Amino acid sequence: MDYALQGKRALVTGAAGDIGSTLVRELHAQGCQVAAGDLDSDSMSGLNELGDKVIALPLDVTREESVQHAVQTAHDHFGGLDIVVNVAGVLCRKSFFETTQQDFADSLAVNVTGPFLVSKAAARLMKDQGQGVIINISSISGSRAIENRTAYGSSKAALDLLTQSAALELGAHGIRVVAVAPGVVDSRMARVRLNTAQLRAEFARNIPLQRLATPYDIAQVVMFLASPAASYITGETVSVDGGLLTRQSLPRPTK
Ligand SMILES: NC(=O)c1ccc[n+]([C@@H]2O[C@H](COP(=O)([O-])OP(=O)(O)OC[C@H]3O[C@@H](n4cnc5c(N)ncnc54)[C@H](O)[C@@H]3O)[C@@H](O)[C@H]2O)c1
Repeated sequence: MDYALQGKRALVTGAAGDIGSTLVRELHAQGCQVAAGDLDSDSMSGLNELGDKVIALPLDVTREESVQHAVQTAHDHFGGLDIVVNVAGVLCRKSFFETTQQDFADSLAVNVTGPFLVSKAAARLMKDQGQGVIINISSISGSRAIENRTAYGSSKAALDLLTQSAALELGAHGIRVVAVAPGVVDSRMARVRLNTAQLRAEFARNIPLQRLATPYDIAQVVMFLASPAASYITGETVSVDGGLLTRQSLPRPTK
């Protein structure tokens, strides 16, 4: 699929992870120049094979100086910044009573404050360009509660509202802000819980499309939202969940 992103300059956070690294490769395949940022800079070494259109940057999205440095470096290296994708995230799997104040603070720091700091630093530069798109990777846990996701779900719900708030104020500067909410992605993050093929298959049977998402599925929607074809979409969170959210939470009827 050609998303008409040739020559665009992008920054992807969480680029060492399953979704982030797939997105970096897919953007590169579309002809983008990509700055790949992650706390775990060692795991980004595999991106070296993509050549000089991809640069790896150490990045802690919770630290404003680190964010400023990465955003400015990406901008200066490529001569501008068209696309920013906030992929970095942490998943706290604890019950309501087990969740500590620190768990809650850590979830908010990475999943909400991080995207806020990155978006603000990038939007300052995009404003001068008169255009840009910021895409936040949220989760369906941000719009429906499930057990053991108090801190995570709260942080992703806040990220959805951050998306709307930023879209509202940045639209006049030609900057779109959107979010993608994956369902269950077959990734390291999900495999901690779905740790056997049998469990994954069982889970997939409850998804209308009968399979887990792949990082590639998520990357495709991100690229569509970054593309000129999506130029009238802003402030939205788009679910990419195989229909998972369509199921009502009442007990299933027997027939
Ligand atoms: N995997 C899923 O099933 C799923 C479902 C819904 C939403 N998501 C969201 O998608 C995003 C990516 O998930 P993934 O499956 O690729 O997870 P992952 O754990 O493979 O990747 C997350 C990356 O974020 C990085 N990171 C964490 N804290 C950071 C920080 N302070 N600064 C910079 N980088 C930091 C980690 O080093 C890691 O490389 C997350 O925001 C996650 O919440 C994932």
